[in-house]
Amino acid sequence: MSPDPRAVPADVPRERGREHAGDLAGLFVSFEGGDGVGKSTQVSLLGHHLAALGREVVVTREPGGTPLGLELRQAILHGEDLDPRTEALLYAADRAHHVATLVRPALERGAVVLTDRYLDSSVAYQGTGRGLGADEVERLSLWAARGLLPHVTVLLDLDPAVGLARLTGDPDRLESAGADFHRRTREAFLARAAQDPGRWLVLDAAQPAEVVAAQVRERLAPFLAGAA
Ligand SMILES: Nc1ncnc2c1ncn2[C@@H]1O[C@H](COP(=O)(O)OP(=O)(O)OP(=O)(O)O)[C@@H](O)[C@H]1O
Ligand SMILES: [Mg+2]
Repeated sequence: MSPDPRAVPADVPRERGREHAGDLAGLFVSFEGGDGVGKSTQVSLLGHHLAALGREVVVTREPGGTPLGLELRQAILHGEDLDPRTEALLYAADRAHHVATLVRPALERGAVVLTDRYLDSSVAYQGTGRGLGADEVERLSLWAARGLLPHVTVLLDLDPAVGLARLTGDPDRLESAGADFHRRTREAFLARAAQDPGRWLVLDAAQPAEVVAAQVRERLAPFLAGAA
């Protein structure tokens, strides 16, 4: 008998006080990092790979993975000036709705959920970048998500200047936040990843996209063993 493709490897750590997605049937993967590092590119490449393996794949993003989320995304990224707490609460509202109505139901039915940003972006951007405090923003985010953490979080690490130079079009409010802000968020992501290597995969996002994609697939292989 082939192994259950949805089985979670035994070495996936359960973090105290947090609900790990491993308790659900599906596979939950988030992509994190600064602007222009290649998150959307990698989500798309992995999504096509998994669909070809016959998995149900749900590709989504934060903010904006739901109809309400799209309205919140517009307000957060392109609306009037927000104080940092308002910004953090709007991200948390987007996340609560996203997890409750889209992510958790998909994981419960056994789908693979790939999200372009998740709560680690809030911890890095609002907690450290905006100076609200990483611990407080993490608590707020975990409360919003009812503790749900991904099986694997891919950090695409890149010099912020290189990432921003890859982007075309008018910068949004976060993209325009300045070099020091982007340097601090990069450091925050790296520090957070170092604290929990069981969940995080840190990759050099300066490599060609196909090389990065192969490294992501290799990390996920144990979770997909036995898939058609
Ligand atoms: N590994 C790579 N090397 C060089 N260019 C890349 C790489 N990955 C993606 N790109 C290109 O860089 C640009 C930004 O990529 P992408 O949109 O995937 O990044 P992102 O992290 O989703 O950006 P954003 O923060 O704006 O959502 C795109 O033009 C994409 O084709
Ligand atoms: Mg993107």
